Amino acid sequence: MDYISQINNATDYIQSQIQFKPQVGIILGTGLGALVEKIEVEFHLDYKDIPHFPISTVESHSGRLIFGMLSGKRIVAMQGRFHYYEGYDMRQVTFPVRVMKQLGIETLFVSNAAGGVNLSFQVADLMVIEDHIDLTKENPLTGKNLDEFGGRFPDMSEPYSRKLIDKALEIAKESGIRCHEGVYAGVSGPNLETRAEYRFIRTIGADAVGMSTIPEVIVARHMNLPVFAISAITDLCDPDHLEVAEISKILAAAAKAERGMTTIIQQLIASLD
Ligand code: HPA
Repeated sequence: MDYISQINNATDYIQSQIQFKPQVGIILGTGLGALVEKIEVEFHLDYKDIPHFPISTVESHSGRLIFGMLSGKRIVAMQGRFHYYEGYDMRQVTFPVRVMKQLGIETLFVSNAAGGVNLSFQVADLMVIEDHIDLTKENPLTGKNLDEFGGRFPDMSEPYSRKLIDKALEIAKESGIRCHEGVYAGVSGPNLETRAEYRFIRTIGADAVGMSTIPEVIVARHMNLPVFAISAITDLCDPDHLEVAEISKILAAAAKAERGMTTIIQQLIASLD
């Protein structure tokens, strides 16, 4: 079955299970685990029951689509996302974004964990992504263009909605949340970077580096969906004083950033038209 038919099949299945048109799609990456508790859940579907949906393999991520109300808006949230390093190809990684668009979403929200290469950042700070540098090894739009969704050469002059960035920074300021604005470099992972790579990433103009988000954002922009993305800075990547990365510390930093990130996303969604 071709890719478009798979997307339509998955969409039809979901719509046969639930009559609900979401306005907002959320990829609950690192830092947004607690947002689930703020959602008035109306329905959920396990990824394993949706035709053609990839199934999440990372132990710390469960896999289901949640439908419900958040800040007065109809939302669909992905609890569990797919990473290239798990072995999915980029079309699988971004499949749910296509399906969420077919379900009706008008804006996509994404979160992630990232290493801070901007050395003015502190662990557990937030960074609203203002632009990105794609250092991943595959592009989700490679191959025959999906004309039904968008053009061959998608524009990337404003991948992240300026309006939402400004609003998020305003919310952070009012709420006393440490939050920067910066450039995210996306890599394939799963290994962390070498000191030379961190130096390179900083030199080319990135403020943070992580292993997700860019494929989903490229696909969202292909479909002209406005995007908001935010990183929890989980570790500092100072090439001259690099410490051994400890996953437990990274997860602890993400947990510390969670409350601020949840506040920003909740208020941002409330502010949508
Ligand atoms: N590099 C890539 N991904 C990450 C990092 C990092 O230093 N920290 C958290 N996610």
